[in-house]
Formats: sequence, C-alpha cells, structure tokens
Amino acid sequence: MEFYLDTADVAAVKRLAAVLPVKGVTTNPSIVARSKRPLSSVLQELVSILPANSTLFAQVMARDAAAMVEEALLLREMVPALVIKVPVTHQGLTAIKALTREKIPTLGTAVYGAGQGFYAALAGASYIAPYVNRVDAQGGDGIALVRELQTLLDLHCPQSKVLAASFRTPRQVLDCMLAGCQAITVDPDVAELFLLDPAVDSALQRFDQDWSAAYGNLTLS
Ligand code: E4P
Repeated sequence: MEFYLDTADVAAVKRLAAVLPVKGVTTNPSIVARSKRPLSSVLQELVSILPANSTLFAQVMARDAAAMVEEALLLREMVPALVIKVPVTHQGLTAIKALTREKIPTLGTAVYGAGQGFYAALAGASYIAPYVNRVDAQGGDGIALVRELQTLLDLHCPQSKVLAASFRTPRQVLDCMLAGCQAITVDPDVAELFLLDPAVDSALQRFDQDWSAAYGNLTLS
C-alpha cells in the first residue's frame, strides 16, 4: 500500500513524513497555485526533504496531446523521476500512450468513471486517480468507483495501480483502503484527522489521574 500526501505544503510534508510511511507527494495545478510559489521550487524543495526512493507527481496543463507531451518533458527536466499526471480525455489518452512509448511514467487523473480510468490503464498509465469526494459530491458513489476500477485493473491491467484521490473525510480514506486500492493520496488536513479524536486526550488524562491517585509522583524511569 502506497500512502501519498496531496499537497504543496512542504512544512506539512515534513511534519507528517516524520510519523507516517509517506511514499511521496502528489500535486495538481490548484494545489500548487494555493502555495503561490513557482512549481519548480515547490518540486525541488519536496525532492530535498523526501527520501531518495520517494515518488513525486505533477500535472500537465495543456489540453492537446502534443503540448501535454512537451510539458511532460519540461517537468521531467525539473525532476527527472517525476510521474506525470495527465487528465483522462481523448487528448490525454493520446499523450499517455506517447509518454508510455518514451518510458515516462504517467498517472491518469480527473477520473470520474471506472471505464474512463480503465482506458488510461489500457493506454499504459502506471497509476489511475479516481476522484472519490468529487464523485460523492455529485451524488455518485466514489468508493464504488474505486472498487470497480480496482477489480478491472486486477483482472485486465495488473501493471496499473489505483491511486485513490480527493477526500474530505477519514471515513472515505478507510473505505478506499478496505476496497483494496493499492495507493492513496490524502490532503494533510484529512491525514491529521486520524489523530485528532478528543477521546484520545481524555483517555490519557484518565491514565494519569489513576496513576497519580495510586502512586503519587512515582515514574517508570
Ligand atoms: C489528485 O490526483 C487530485 O488532483 C486531487 O486529489 C483532487 O482532490 P480535491 O478533490 O480535494 O481537489
């Protein structure tokens, strides 16, 4: 299971990578724009703080296949091992095929349907990113999408991985992992929610009170 952070917030990556087995970082144009920093400096800084075997993802902006390929090559000049995110459109599929021929790894993004994602796998994408929360927000079932896509890939394209994306709640994240997806990318705020249950603090306070009542200031060391 590969666990990624979906962010351009370098401080958040440092904080979470210290406690979680973070495999790398995914970005998209909106995420990078929120940082108000040049894409190249965000990527370089992420490379500098992550372990050497980490995986970084950045997305092309162009809409036609030839320009997508050109942008992918430019992005790979910034970070040679970058995985290129390509929206799964007609043009995007053409670009994924071309990049695959050049042995450049891709992620098919903006996936709202299992068939759409499956096409990206057929074109050669290494990862497919179904948008769980955005599908839920449209009244669809994002988890069902992940489950269907995972089954399709297991049956027909085992070389491609589902990298589930777009989450608002820890429940969505857990349900995707329970659906068997091999990779997931989570916004740092959502990732932190797993550790923010106020019941944890009150459980620890109760341990302290019980211990002090019985043993006073005695410590274990
Ligand atoms: C990942 O590929 C997507 O860019 C990202 O997870 C979308 O997330 P959002 O719906 O929270 O913007």
